[in-house]
Amino acid sequence: MQIIEIVLILLSVLQGTRVSLASSHYSQVIPILIDDTLVPDYPADLSSVALFEATFQEEVRTCRILREVFDFSDINPAEFSKRVYPYILSTHKKFKLLNALQASQSCVYHIAKYQKKLNRSILARIYANTVSKLAFAKGVLDEENAEDLALSFASFIRENARRFKKAGDQDWKIKSLAQGLEDFLRSCNILSRKNIPLLDLVFANEWIEAGSS
Ligand SMILES: *[C@@H]1O[C@H](CO)[C@@H](O)[C@H](O)[C@H]1NC(C)=O
Repeated sequence: MQIIEIVLILLSVLQGTRVSLASSHYSQVIPILIDDTLVPDYPADLSSVALFEATFQEEVRTCRILREVFDFSDINPAEFSKRVYPYILSTHKKFKLLNALQASQSCVYHIAKYQKKLNRSILARIYANTVSKLAFAKGVLDEENAEDLALSFASFIRENARRFKKAGDQDWKIKSLAQGLEDFLRSCNILSRKNIPLLDLVFANEWIEAGSS
């Protein structure tokens, strides 16, 4: 029951996006998505995700260290996927997911397949939408708190960025994205073993959508 609920909400959020994760273990979930009992109308719900993204993009645009964090214009998506992989894998292992390796590989597979050049706004969009759609699906995000939550997400990434950069960490940008995302989800009480498969699904879908728009 609960997985179906989640998938229904997720579908509403993903409206119109292609859910093509056939290569992953989520393929078993897909038939549920195609169920014709789905209710098609969710316009109000999407505005919280849009508001979250707009607020977050503005923070990134106006904050020097965040502009830096989201600037990977010097590398291609395949290289980016290689660099985020260890952090994705470590989160999956930390939460003792049975298929940690497979799930992590499936996440980065969709990054590596992204054909366009990476730019700041597309990356900020992917990260913002990933956390906001999960927060929405878990009943945390609404239109009232969307701006505050977006500012909070930005500030978690910013704090990590300052810390890792100051420490002279070569991988500071990737690390602050990974840690900022975890910190934010934890602050919303939605970082859990149970939620990680949905997080993976949303993240992969953001890359698919970015690549197809
Ligand atoms: C960033 O990339 C997206 C996707 O390729 C593209 O639509 C957008 O115009 C790009 N933005 C900039 C500022 O280059």
